Amino acid sequence: MSTSTPLVHAVIDGTTIELAPGHSVAAALALLPPGCARTSVTGERRAPFCGMGICHECRVLVDGRQRLACQTLCTDGMVIDTRGQPQGGMP
Ligand code: FES
Repeated sequence: MSTSTPLVHAVIDGTTIELAPGHSVAAALALLPPGCARTSVTGERRAPFCGMGICHECRVLVDGRQRLACQTLCTDGMVIDTRGQPQGGMP
């Protein structure tokens, strides 16, 4: 009998990654250099900073909806987009 846990597959900006269940989207972003979550209004790439839902530097689109990467767990088949950020704040 196998005791291994199935890996989770997620797509980040078109690149498929696999990781163990329970990892946040922020952790998944860190696996792909440069590990950025979004682009600021001045064109700078931004990365998760506080890791606890305060700074909002980790905003990404997850399956088309804006989410905080540090507060979102990866699920199998998840599509994460760091480039197509909608304007405006979090819902
Ligand atoms: S890293 Fe600060 S809100 Fe996610």
